[in-house]
Amino acid sequence: MKSPACGRFFLVFPWILIVIIVVDVDVRRRSKSDQRRSVSPSLLPGGKEVSPNPSLPTVYAITPTYSRAVQKAELTRLANTFRHLENFHWIVVEDSPSRTPLVSQLLSRSGLRSYTHLHVLTPRRYRRSGLPRATEQRNQALGWIRQNRSPRHPGVVFFADDDNTYSLELFEEMRLTRKVSVWPVGLVGGRRYERPLVEDGHVVGWYTGWRPDRPFAIDMAGFAVNLQVILSNPKAVFKRGGSQPGMQESDFLKQITTVQELEPKAANCTKVLVWHTRTEKANLAFEPKHSQDVIDIEV
Ligand SMILES: *[C@@H]1O[C@H](CO)[C@@H](O)[C@H](O)[C@H]1NC(C)=O
Repeated sequence: MKSPACGRFFLVFPWILIVIIVVDVDVRRRSKSDQRRSVSPSLLPGGKEVSPNPSLPTVYAITPTYSRAVQKAELTRLANTFRHLENFHWIVVEDSPSRTPLVSQLLSRSGLRSYTHLHVLTPRRYRRSGLPRATEQRNQALGWIRQNRSPRHPGVVFFADDDNTYSLELFEEMRLTRKVSVWPVGLVGGRRYERPLVEDGHVVGWYTGWRPDRPFAIDMAGFAVNLQVILSNPKAVFKRGGSQPGMQESDFLKQITTVQELEPKAANCTKVLVWHTRTEKANLAFEPKHSQDVIDIEV
């Protein structure tokens, strides 16, 4: 039954198979790295990075931003705060078809040692009032983190909108987040502050003036997420479908945690360390349609 030819075949065949698989994997790997190299420079994120202090988790602050009269003032205020922080990486995502010179120059002159500059244009159908904002920009930043960070990187992710004021203390509170941490936010939701209600070190409810029935009745500036939680929940994103303004936070947090798991910060949520200040809309009543000045000036 067993001929010598057949025996030789069974001896050689597995080896041929292994060679084929190895060559195939190698070719695929090479074509992937070719793809990476062929991406046009304008599609690669701008930014720079210094090696962080290895004993301290890095705070990744995600800031969606869009062009408007007060944009540079807002980003300058944030940069002036963030510059004081060690192990801090700012991810700025512009709502624009490309990275603008205004934001590029602001970042390169900010004195920040580590940042990433991204952009993604909000589709026209989502540019209406009454719809949640900055969804695409926050998701773009989460995508960058998932592509460029691994479980080797200790870190925490925070959504730092550009219309807030941040105390330095806030970042030291959030830095040691194990899964998801929470704290009060000032001047938000039609009240002086909103906060998670804490009993015996656990969140048991929400002090808020608006829809306390939300699963997580918390502002975007009121929580931080450990980087490993972002990496181990690759599908957790901000949703467009069915999401109302003010429900973005709840919709996102539902995907990665439970109320019982939340870690209260800021002295069991009794201190306000961040304020939803919102800069007044600039009054441009006397701004001429076409510049009447002899110079072109960036504001
Ligand atoms: C928070 O509350 C817990 C439980 O009551 C307590 O053990 C802990 O010391 C408190 N933490 C702070 C910072 O006040």
